[in-house]
Amino acid sequence: MKYLYLFGYPLGHSISPAFQNAALRACGVRRVRYVKNPMPPDKFQEIILALRAPHCLGANITVPYKQTILPLLDEVSPLAREIGAVNTVVKRANRDGSVTLVGENTDAYGFMQALRARRVNPRGQRVAILGAGGAAAAAAYALAEAGAHEIILLNRTLARSIELADRLVQKFRRMGLAINDWDALGKTQLLVNATSVGMSPHPDASPLPPHVLLAPHAVVYDLVYNPPMTRFLREAQAQGARIVGGLEMLIYQGARAFELWTGKRAPVRIMRVSAARALEEMIRAADAGHKG
Ligand SMILES: NC(=O)c1ccc[n+]([C@@H]2O[C@H](COP(=O)([O-])OP(=O)(O)OC[C@H]3O[C@@H](n4cnc5c(N)ncnc54)[C@H](OP(=O)(O)O)[C@@H]3O)[C@@H](O)[C@H]2O)c1
Repeated sequence: MKYLYLFGYPLGHSISPAFQNAALRACGVRRVRYVKNPMPPDKFQEIILALRAPHCLGANITVPYKQTILPLLDEVSPLAREIGAVNTVVKRANRDGSVTLVGENTDAYGFMQALRARRVNPRGQRVAILGAGGAAAAAAYALAEAGAHEIILLNRTLARSIELADRLVQKFRRMGLAINDWDALGKTQLLVNATSVGMSPHPDASPLPPHVLLAPHAVVYDLVYNPPMTRFLREAQAQGARIVGGLEMLIYQGARAFELWTGKRAPVRIMRVSAARALEEMIRAADAGHKG
């Protein structure tokens, strides 16, 4: 048996095994399983040992190791280096029998693909991103690459927005950039929540200050996928915004990782059905836990 691992800590919330294993089955990939491999911080270094083991075919990396894994890998793709985060590790076999661990970032692809599927084109638009962590960086790079006219970064910790803006400005010199300009929210065509605010088990929280008025016809995109309908999305919809939830990004980032590991085309529809079912089951189990 060979394994694809999900490394992070804690991992109780993850639904990736459900849809990755469904994809492996659908593509006839036998004797390979995608499994959670939770590594607490004192075992972080063991991730590299586990990756080098012959029975490991590759991995996803999630919170809190997406950034700290970079210096431990043999190679990091240019995109993952620019974003400063790795969420996928591919093992490249060399002619001399050695193996190279290559860090990739499929979050940016997943982020953009979910927008494309909804026919949202950020070219020439003013967009705002709430957050400045790994997901915000992936979103910002994807939007800049797609030709956004201006990006406004809004984050609780100012230093992190400045650090991300500095990196963006070096690569996308002609794009407009602003930091913590909350007044601009009413004039942005696309607003993205890339913070963890509103995520289960705190679904009543919103990353927006109260009474923010959105631009008419704005698209509002929440990267949080549990719950599928966050307070942020609900309130935006009530103002007439078009909304995009985080589950599609999760599926597309997973689909790209699947293709990198297996060389096969990802069965996106099957992955979507399995992911939605796994999420429903997780929410039902959590509700039953609360009631019990
Ligand atoms: N749908 C998908 O496929 C997908 C993929 C990746 C991530 N995500 C989601 O995106 C979110 C962020 O992930 P990440 O990897 O970027 O995490 P991260 O690097 O830890 O960044 C977390 C971000 O959330 C902000 N934040 C956290 N608590 C906050 C609070 N109480 N008030 C205001 N801001 C707060 C942080 O602000 P500070 O800088 O001030 O701490 C930071 O900007 C998570 O919900 C994650 O599940 C979804």
